[in-house]
Amino acid sequence: MCGIVGYLGPSNPVPLIIESLRCLEYRGYDSAGIALLDDAQQLHVVKSAGKLQNLVDRLAAEGNVAPRGDGSNAVTTLFSAPNTQAASTTNGHTHLGMGHIRWATHGAANDVNAHPHMGTERQIAVVHNGIIENYYTLRQQLQAEGRTPVSETDTECIVQLLESNWAAKGRLETGSLEAFRKTVIETLGQLQGAFALVIMHRQFPETLWVVRRQAPLVIGIKDITNHASNKPAFGGEFVVASDTVAVIPHTNRIVFLKDDEVAELSTAGLRLMTQDGTVITPVIETVDASPLQIDKKGFRHFMLKEIHEQPDVIRQSLSGRLQHPEDPIQLFGASVDITALKAVDRLVVIGCGTSLNAGLVGKYAIEDLVGIPVSVESAGEYRYRRPIITPNTLVVAISQSGETADTLEAVRQTAKLGAKVLTITNREDSSLARESDYVLPVRAGIEVSVCATKSFTAQVVVLTLLAIQLAEMHESTPTACLQALKTELVRLPALLDSYLASDALGKIQEVAKTFSGFPNMLFIARGMNYPVALEGALKLKEISYIHAEGYSGSELKHGPIAMLDNTMPVMSILTPGTVFDKMVSNCQEAAARDARMIAVSSVEPLAENVASLFEAIIPLPACDEVLSPMLTSVPLQLFAYYIAEHLGKDVDQPRNLAKSVTVE
Ligand code: F6R
Repeated sequence: MCGIVGYLGPSNPVPLIIESLRCLEYRGYDSAGIALLDDAQQLHVVKSAGKLQNLVDRLAAEGNVAPRGDGSNAVTTLFSAPNTQAASTTNGHTHLGMGHIRWATHGAANDVNAHPHMGTERQIAVVHNGIIENYYTLRQQLQAEGRTPVSETDTECIVQLLESNWAAKGRLETGSLEAFRKTVIETLGQLQGAFALVIMHRQFPETLWVVRRQAPLVIGIKDITNHASNKPAFGGEFVVASDTVAVIPHTNRIVFLKDDEVAELSTAGLRLMTQDGTVITPVIETVDASPLQIDKKGFRHFMLKEIHEQPDVIRQSLSGRLQHPEDPIQLFGASVDITALKAVDRLVVIGCGTSLNAGLVGKYAIEDLVGIPVSVESAGEYRYRRPIITPNTLVVAISQSGETADTLEAVRQTAKLGAKVLTITNREDSSLARESDYVLPVRAGIEVSVCATKSFTAQVVVLTLLAIQLAEMHESTPTACLQALKTELVRLPALLDSYLASDALGKIQEVAKTFSGFPNMLFIARGMNYPVALEGALKLKEISYIHAEGYSGSELKHGPIAMLDNTMPVMSILTPGTVFDKMVSNCQEAAARDARMIAVSSVEPLAENVASLFEAIIPLPACDEVLSPMLTSVPLQLFAYYIAEHLGKDVDQPRNLAKSVTVE
C-alpha cells in the first residue's frame, strides 16, 4: 500500500532511494517517483507510471536531476554508480531526497498521479502512504484560494495545504525553521485519515520532516554522533522508510515512529515531537535482521520458490516449540507469563484474506482439541461492530505483514476493552506485534510474491501448535491423541518434501493446462478443509483473474448448484475423516449436474464409483485430518500457479494488489 523513503545525509541519494524502493516494491507497483533538491535549491521530481524499473529507465534516460553539490549536474552519473558507497559524494554537502512507489487509491495509475507531489509554488514536496479522508473538502477550499490541483490524488491536498498555511501566516517572509515546523504541525491538525509522510521544503535544504498516523514509518539512524539513546537530539544520517527491510541495508538502529509523532531530521539531529509540538525522547532500538535476500534461487517465479520452501518453513515453525511428542508444546519463551492463557474460555480470531482463511483452519483445530468457542472475524467488518469481549476472551490477530490497517485497528479496539491480544505474524518488528501482549512469529522468512503461500502454511502450523498447547493446558483432549498428532506433525515436512519432488507436480501442471481456459471455477470441501477451498479459490482469482469461489460442499445445494453445467469446473478436496462420505455425496450431486469434476485426494485407492466421478484426480499423501490443511493447500497453490503461468500472467505482482494493505 504505497512505500515511502526519505534520505538525509552525505551520500548520493539517488541509488540509495532506488534500492530502498526496490525493497518496498511488494507494497505497490502502480508508479514510482523520486524528489531531490539541487544546488540552486530547486525541487526536482522525476516519476513514472508502472513498475519501479520504468522510473529507473527514465532516470537513466533523462539525467535531469542533480543533487546538491554534484559537479556533474546529471543524475545518470549518480545513478549508474554501482553502489551507494561508491556513489557517495565527499564534498561535504548534505543531500536529501524522497522516493515513493504507489498503490493507487485516488486517481488512475499514471505519471501525473504518481508521487512525489509538489504545491503550486513548487516550494514543498511530499510523499504519502495512506488515505486523506477529508481530501475533497480540502481540495475545494484550496481551489477557492486559487491553488489548482494537477492530479486527482488526495496527497496533493497535503502539499497544497502546507504551501497555503506557509503563505497565509506570513512565514514565507520570516523563513525560519521553527515557523515551518509550526506549519507542519498545524497542517497535520487539518488532515483526517491515515498517513505516513515525508516532507521537504526548498528553503530548508538540510531538513526533512516525517510524520506517522495509522500508517507504518521507521527512521533508520546511521552514523550517530551521540550514541546515547535517551538524549532528545543527535546528529546523523537518516534513512526513513515504510518498512525496516528498506532501512536494514544501511543501519540496524531504528526509531519506530508511533501514531501522531512528528520527527524533524537534520544535520543537527533528530527532534521528535508529539502532534502538538511537545519534544519527546526518541527510543532507538537495535533491530536484529539481515538485509533482504531477493533471489529466485533458480525458480521461474518467487511464488513457485516459496511453495517449494514450505517443508523448511514448517520445520522452522516447529523448531524449539515441538521438541518431542511426549513433551508439552512450548510456543512461548520462558520469560513470557502465560497464566492468563490457562483461563481462556473463548477466542476471537481476527484477520483478512489469506490470514482470515488460516484463522478459519485454526477455529476447526481449536474447537476440536480445546472445546472452547472460536469466532473468526474479518477485520474490516469487525472494527465497525460492537466487539464482545468477556473477561477470559483471547483475541488472536493473524497477519503476515503485521501492518494490515483493518486488523491493526480491530485489535486496538479489543485491547481498549481489556482483551489480551496474541499476534501470529511473519514480522516481529511490525506494528501489530509491537502492540500485542503475546507474539508468535510464524518464521516463514520473507515472502516476496504478493500471493501468500508459505506464510499461510506457517500460520496454520502455529495455530495448530496453539490448539495443542491450549488442549494440554486445559486437559481437554486425551494425551495419547495429542501425542499422535505431534508425531505426525514432525513427519509433515518430510512428507511434503517428497510430494514436491514427486510426479504429482507434472499431473497438477497437466490438469492446470486443461482447465486454464474456463472463466469460472468452484472449489468445494468440508470440515477442516473448507477453509482450504476458500483459500484455493482466492489463490486462483488473485493470480489468474479467473473467477473462482470456495464453498462448503454442504452449501452447494443452497444456491451455487444452480451455476453447475458442463462449463463449470468443480475442484473438490477429498481427505479421509469424519466428513469423507458427506463430501462424496456432494461431489455426486455436482457430477449429476454435468459439472467438470476435479479432485485433490489423499484417499488411495478411491473406490471405483467415487473415482469415476472425476475427470482428473490429483494425488496427495494422507495424514491426520486435523493436520491435512497443511498438505491439501499445496496442490491448490500449484494449480493456481500453473494456470497463471500458462496464461502468461504476472504471477508475483498480480494487477491491483499489494502485499501490505495499510489502508482501510
Ligand atoms: C492473498 C493475500 C492477502 C493477505 C491479506 C492480509 O494471497 O496475501 O489476502 O492475506 O491482505 O494480509 P496480512 O496477512 O499481511 O494481514
